[in-house]
Parts: sequence; C-alpha cells; structure tokens
Amino acid sequence: MVYDIAAPEPSGMVASLSSLGYSLPAAVADLVDNSISAGASSIDVEFTWAGRDSWVAVVDNGTGMTTDELVTAMTVAARGPAIVRSPTDLGRFGVGLKSASFSQARQLTVATAKTGDWSVRTWDLDVIEETGEWRLLRDADDSTTRILDALRGAAGQGTVVLWRRLTGYYYSDTVTEGDERTQKQFYAEAARTESHLGMVFARFLTGNSRCMRVLGTPVEPWDPFLSRHPSVQRLPVEQLRLGTGTVRVEAFVLPSAHRLPPTEYEKAGGPRGWLDQQGFYVYRRDRLILAGDWLGQRGLRREEKYNLARIAVDIPAETDVEWGVDVRKSSVVPPVGLRPHIRRIARQARRLASDVLRHRGQIAARTHGEPLRYAWHVRRDKDQVTCKINREHPLVRAALRSDGGSPGDVRALLRLLEETVPVTALRVMHETDTSDDPEPFGGAGPADPDATEVAQRIYEAMVTGGRSPAAARERLRTMHPFDQLQGFWNR
Ligand SMILES: Nc1ncnc2c1ncn2[C@@H]1O[C@H](COP(=O)(O)OP(=O)(O)O)[C@@H](O)[C@H]1O
Ligand SMILES: [Mg+2]
Repeated sequence: MVYDIAAPEPSGMVASLSSLGYSLPAAVADLVDNSISAGASSIDVEFTWAGRDSWVAVVDNGTGMTTDELVTAMTVAARGPAIVRSPTDLGRFGVGLKSASFSQARQLTVATAKTGDWSVRTWDLDVIEETGEWRLLRDADDSTTRILDALRGAAGQGTVVLWRRLTGYYYSDTVTEGDERTQKQFYAEAARTESHLGMVFARFLTGNSRCMRVLGTPVEPWDPFLSRHPSVQRLPVEQLRLGTGTVRVEAFVLPSAHRLPPTEYEKAGGPRGWLDQQGFYVYRRDRLILAGDWLGQRGLRREEKYNLARIAVDIPAETDVEWGVDVRKSSVVPPVGLRPHIRRIARQARRLASDVLRHRGQIAARTHGEPLRYAWHVRRDKDQVTCKINREHPLVRAALRSDGGSPGDVRALLRLLEETVPVTALRVMHETDTSDDPEPFGGAGPADPDATEVAQRIYEAMVTGGRSPAAARERLRTMHPFDQLQGFWNR
C-alpha cells in the first residue's frame, strides 16, 4: 500500500469542532454527562459575570483522572466509538468535552485529581491557531489558577472544567463588567441551563442521592410526562425489536389546562413551552438526547392541537449507529425498520391528544338518568366555526319554560355557561385558519329577523326596567352588536 499521511490541520480542526451549533445549556449538559459517567454524586455549575473575563465551570466529585488520563481526555477523539464502554458511560465519540467547550470558550482548562494530586491542562485556541500545533499547556496563568483553587476547595478527588474567554462575551472590547444588559443575559443563560439540565438529567435526579446545582440552586427534575398525575393517559408500552436489542416506547397524553393549577400547567409546558415540547423524547442510557420532536416523520407536523402528546423512547446505546446519534447527542433519525411503528404510535397519541382538547370544550352537564349533554356545541361547518348553546340541555329548557323558569335555573345556567366556555376547542379549531371567525348575526348589514327579535326583547326589558322608549332606543343603537346592524333601532 502506498500512501501519504494527511493529518488534519489543527486550527481548521478546532474551528470545525467548535461550530457544531451547541447552545450554551446543551454544551454544559455535555460536561455534566462526563461528570455523571465519572460517578459524581455532586455536580456544581458555576457562572461568574466579569465582562470579558466572565467564566463558566462545572465542578464534580467523580473519580477524577490521573495526569495520563487527563491528557487522553483532552485529546480530540482519543476515545472513539470503537472502544468498549461501561453501561453507565454517557460518552460516545471522545469529542464532547472538547467540542462543547470550544463552542463556548477560547480557553478550556481542566483540573482533576484521583488521589489528592491535582493535574491541570489547558487548551488555548489562540495558541493552537498561532502555532498550528496541538500544544496542550501544562500550566495555567495566575488568575486561572486562583479560580481553580477556589472551585476545588479542599477536595482530594474530582474534576473542575473551566471555560474562560467565552465566545459570546469576549468578542468585543466594549463588553465591560458594568454592562448591566449583557450581565442580565449572562445570568439568563444560567437560568436556561438550569431548566435544561432538569429536563435532560431528570431520570438521574429523581429518587437519587445525586445533587446537581446551578449557581448553588439545586436543579429540579422536570418530568415531561407528568407521570404521577392521575389524569394522564398512557398507551400500552411497546417493546420494538431492533437487531439484538429492544426499543421501549411509551406514549402519554397529558391532561388539559383545566385539570392543572395555572402554575403547574405552565411548568408542565417545559423549558421551550407546550408547542415545542410535543412529540418524542428520546433517552439513551437514561439521558435525554432529544426533547419534543416528531423525528422528521412524514405527515407529523407540530400543531397546537397535539400539544398534549408526548412519547418516551428508550434506545439501547448499542443501537447508536442505527439511530445516527450525533456528537452533540441532539439529533437522532429512527432506523428504517422502526419508522412504521414510530408513525403508528405517534398518530395514536396525536389523535388522543387532540380529542382531549376538543372535548374540553364540551364539558358534559350530567343530569341523573339523562344521556350525556353538553351546554355548548362547537362545530365546524364548511369553513366556519360556530359555537351554539344546546337548546336541549336541561338547564336551557328549564329557563325557556313557558312559565319563565325560576331565577335559580337561569342563574345556574349562566354559571354553567361561564364555566364551560369552550375556549380550548375554539382555539384548536381556529388555529389553522383565521378567516373563519364568526360574526354576530352574520356581520354588518341589515338585521335579520333573529337579530330584530333579540333587539326587541332587550328594548322591552329596558323599558320595563324604567327607561323611556327614546332612551332605550338610543342605548340599543350603540350596543354591540346592534351598532353594526341596520334595524328599527337605527332608524
Ligand atoms: N468530569 C470528568 N471526570 C472524569 N473523567 C472525565 C471527565 N470529563 C471527561 N473525562 C474523561 O474524558 C474522556 C473524554 O470525554 P469527552 O470528550 O466528553 O468524550 P466522551 O464522553 O465521548 O468519552 C471521557 O471518556 C472521560 O474518560
Ligand atoms: Mg462526554
């Protein structure tokens, strides 16, 4: 075999590694992956604002590394997919630490200790670019050393990963420590990181003695499926065969807004909100790698009416290749053989989810021994959505009795109507088109007999109530919707 060695150019390699498109929360999550793989029971994420000198760090009490292990850890792709990993190892390509860090910072320093002796190594992207060599620095500058010392405290074991010269804040000389707006954005990123970690690592944080903090605040696990809520509907768990392994799929349909207190409903929406959090949640070794996505499947669009559908998928790490798990662990493509099942389960869950929203608008008024009756009827006829009160409803009938019904019946009816305004059903039916808003009595123009009849009744009620006919007429003329209609009151 004849060949040339064509090794990658370090500076170009660094540039491409750093442009994988990580968000800051996702990049921090990649560091936390490593801390969890190292068996850490305590993980602290720190953010410190200092203008151009701002920094971010992840501090863990995991196994730590020897100096040799640290050098290997810092080497790009030294532990690739070919090596055998323990079942609790969340890594895959041997790239995460570097690519996540380079996407956020020009300087990556790692300090680590296994048995009391701390080793430190630094990648400085300026040095790599200037020298064109993978020069892994053995010493750190004074201010870096001070930060590291403060972070590791008296611990004799663990790892500190420190990012300095953050690309998002370092780019310009004008960023100063006193820049309040940028400082706010910086700490907003910290808050986003906190909720992202709560979502991604929820399974590690639930019922576990592990503690994860962002800026000292414990990260709360976020359960996308509200699995402990009594009104959650679950489709049967499916175990799909893939090669020698099985993929576990469980679909959940969450309760609609009226079954949750407003704060809980908002929280259940998730870090990105209901619309962006519907769909599949893909887990690999209990780590969430994709949250709320329909996996690019044909015919499965994100729509508001499917907000309540969320589906957990557990993929065995041995099937990474089939799912195309990428470096960022943020994209997966379902294997061809599983796609029909994925689509079938998704459709089932979506149908159920939109049913829940639709029926929310038709809360049943159950009367003993009577069939199920709704106070409101929401319909879509041709391209119009209409919303009518059910004349057959027992309370409506009572109010319409020839003897006038009792004030109690009317009060009860009004209360029922107020309580069951079909807001959600209307929203769902209206979401795709906007031109179908119904207009009172068919919209502006000459009044039809129905409008005239209703106006006549209001007019009489006002006169009976003591108004002069002229005043009542004048009042009607300016009253919605009669101000839009031409009738006797406008003449
Ligand atoms: N916090 C840590 N504690 C102990 N070892 C670590 C830590 N972070 C990284 N490492 C080591 O560095 C290696 C490379 O990490 P990384 O670049 O994220 O790739 P991967 O996680 O895919 O192996 C890990 O496999 C692990 O051995
Ligand atoms: Mg990793």
